[in-house]
Amino acid sequence: MRQFISWVVWALVLGLSAAQFNNPEGVDIWCGKAYRATNSSFDPGGWFEEPPKSSVPLLNLRVRPRMSIYLDTDATGSLLIDAGISDQVGQPLLQSNASSTGNSSSILQVEVISGGSVLQSTSVELGSTDNEILIDLESFPASLSGHNIRIRATLGQNTTYTASTELFRLPYPEDYGSVSRIDNLYGGLWAQRQGGEWTHIFPYTYYVQWSLYWDNNVTTLDDFAAMGYNVIHIVPTGTLGDTPFPWDQFEPYLERADELGLYFQYDVIWTPQNSTGMIEQVERLKTHPSMLLWYQSDEADGKSNPINSTGIAYQKLRELDPYHPVSLALNCYDFYYSDYAAGADIIMSDVYPISTNTSFSTVYDTVCNATYGCCGCDDCNGNFDDISHRIDEFQRRDGLIGWSKTQWFAPQAFGNETFWTRYPTAGEEVVMTMLAINHGAKGIVMWNYPTTAELADLTRRLAVVLTSELVADFFLEAPLVEGLEVKGGSKVDAAAWVSESKRQVLLGVVNLNYEDIQEGIEVVLPDGVKVGSVNEALWGDLSWDIESEGTSAATGGMAGLQVSLAVLDLV
Ligand SMILES: *[C@@H]1O[C@H](CO)[C@@H](O)[C@H](O)[C@H]1NC(C)=O
Ligand SMILES: *[C@@H]1O[C@H](CO)[C@@H](O)[C@H](O)[C@H]1NC(C)=O
Ligand SMILES: *[C@@H]1O[C@H](CO)[C@@H](O)[C@H](O)[C@H]1NC(C)=O
Ligand SMILES: *[C@@H]1O[C@H](CO)[C@@H](O)[C@H](O)[C@H]1NC(C)=O
Ligand SMILES: *[C@@H]1O[C@H](CO)[C@@H](O)[C@H](O)[C@H]1NC(C)=O
Ligand SMILES: *[C@@H]1O[C@H](CO)[C@@H](O)[C@H](O)[C@H]1NC(C)=O
Ligand SMILES: *[C@@H]1O[C@H](CO)[C@@H](O)[C@H](O)[C@H]1NC(C)=O
Ligand SMILES: *[C@@H]1O[C@H](CO)[C@@H](O)[C@H](O)[C@H]1NC(C)=O
Ligand SMILES: *[C@@H]1O[C@H](CO)[C@@H](O)[C@H](O)[C@H]1NC(C)=O
Ligand SMILES: *[C@@H]1O[C@H](CO)[C@@H](O)[C@H](O)[C@H]1NC(C)=O
Repeated sequence: MRQFISWVVWALVLGLSAAQFNNPEGVDIWCGKAYRATNSSFDPGGWFEEPPKSSVPLLNLRVRPRMSIYLDTDATGSLLIDAGISDQVGQPLLQSNASSTGNSSSILQVEVISGGSVLQSTSVELGSTDNEILIDLESFPASLSGHNIRIRATLGQNTTYTASTELFRLPYPEDYGSVSRIDNLYGGLWAQRQGGEWTHIFPYTYYVQWSLYWDNNVTTLDDFAAMGYNVIHIVPTGTLGDTPFPWDQFEPYLERADELGLYFQYDVIWTPQNSTGMIEQVERLKTHPSMLLWYQSDEADGKSNPINSTGIAYQKLRELDPYHPVSLALNCYDFYYSDYAAGADIIMSDVYPISTNTSFSTVYDTVCNATYGCCGCDDCNGNFDDISHRIDEFQRRDGLIGWSKTQWFAPQAFGNETFWTRYPTAGEEVVMTMLAINHGAKGIVMWNYPTTAELADLTRRLAVVLTSELVADFFLEAPLVEGLEVKGGSKVDAAAWVSESKRQVLLGVVNLNYEDIQEGIEVVLPDGVKVGSVNEALWGDLSWDIESEGTSAATGGMAGLQVSLAVLDLV
């Protein structure tokens, strides 16, 4: 549950409580659960349906375009092919692979088929994922509808498997000021302004309420951007919630954003009951040069909007504007994930574990558990691991469903209200942010601004690093290896982005302990990665020693909540 004021305002203005579907009459719910002491627990349902375990190994053959959309101005494109082995999804791996000789048993011969003809042939190794094969985009004439692509993979003599996907190659939209898309390989957001080059963007910003900040003066756009945040998210509170929408009041902001070259994650003020407002907003704004992506709904699962509602809105958004991706925020751990998450390309989780009692609701005076209560952090334990666990779990579910979604994260930058007794400290804020990034978050939008002076000061400094070209090159253009082994310290999270093109590794190390680690620690780099020296410390004054080529050591240990982001050179 977000800051109470916004939640109540939203519920009142938009009449959302009327939309809840799984509760007995008169029972208020959050994440499907009754939370008032006057009501008792009931089974909220909506738990993720785990595919059954198979007794034989399964080939999880998948294919998807590298980019969520291509334009007719794009010269090159590629497909990503997975031949992963799973015990939950895929087709049984038949015995025939045993009958063939030598190494050929682990190679799949793959044909790429479209419009009835084989476009090309390649081979991929059994068990491998993210095999990238270049395709000639000229085979796919520009069109608003997708092109069906099928792959046929043959293993051994005659066991075949198939998978399919849809590739979009859209006409270049002459009237648009910007277009954007998702890279299905690394999860990054890419944008192109007025026919220029595609450039990557790692969003680092805050949710900022109209009524608490922007409404004051259009110069807030200049001020906010000058603090280093690279995306603008306006939460449409106050007059922006009015019907009809106050375009006259908002127009100067659109003009200023264009002049400053800003990007919006634009909140379309969508409600399940009435999409008129959303349609008006999208039709009016889709060609604006500041449009980066649409934010379709905020905590739809918490509010228990109809479970098909986000998917319906997504279809409508795609129909109105296929040139910008769609995001939404989910607040619940496990409430109809596969339905609500169907409504976006980018899923933002907002897990707020700092200074809330996650087992007993201090606001509603009830216990909180899997079927009851609201403690401000759904199914949480009240520690940093709630964050990494949530992102990992969402990614795991995406994999089982067969989705290529991007996960972003909304760190807690508020407190001293309702469930939360205080704001996070600067140390906690960096830990939450880097932990999410270490687990694959490809964008950060904190809730919310204005915040404390301590956090504002910190995030301005962090913005310099996280919005830099260098860091985006790693986060969005290099494979991430999560969960590196850390010797000598427990509860230290470490990840590496290995860039072969730069011949460098970005190492992210987060001490989740509030206490110092006195003894030296050693981070074991990914298999086969050998480094020779430390190039640059981007964050945290920790000095790493390269004692052997495959490890990076901090002989003096780590301070409590210390975070280190460092670039190492490959040998
Ligand atoms: C739930 O609690 C509300 C008051 O908060 C009460 O009016 C209502 O009767 C209760 N419903 C049930 C089914 O217990
Ligand atoms: C077929 O290949 C898979 C993947 O390498 C392997 O797990 C399986 O044991 C092989 N089947 C037989 C019968 O050897
Ligand atoms: C299988 O491939 C590996 C690596 O390519 C090679 O070292 C090995 O000798 C091969 N084995 C056979 C039986 O061909
Ligand atoms: C190919 O398939 C046929 C029929 O399914 C089967 O009888 C035959 O043994 C298979 N050949 C090989 C080499 O696996
Ligand atoms: C907005 O800020 C500018 C620059 O500080 C100032 O000149 C202007 O008077 C302000 N406008 C309003 C309506 O406060
Ligand atoms: C839907 O919203 C529009 C404004 O966005 C409003 O004019 C219209 O009356 C609403 N329709 C209903 C049925 O509430
Ligand atoms: C969405 O679900 C509601 C029930 O919650 C149903 O009435 C409606 O027909 C569904 N809409 C679509 C387009 O499936
Ligand atoms: C949460 O509240 C319960 C009940 O008041 C209390 O027993 C427990 O110690 C609290 N936990 C934390 C972590 O504060
Ligand atoms: C959650 O707590 C409520 C109230 O104590 C209890 O009735 C319910 O059985 C609990 N649910 C679980 C899953 O433990
Ligand atoms: C906490 O909130 C209360 C009530 O809104 C306010 O009076 C107090 O100044 C706040 N404390 C801090 C440290 O922000």
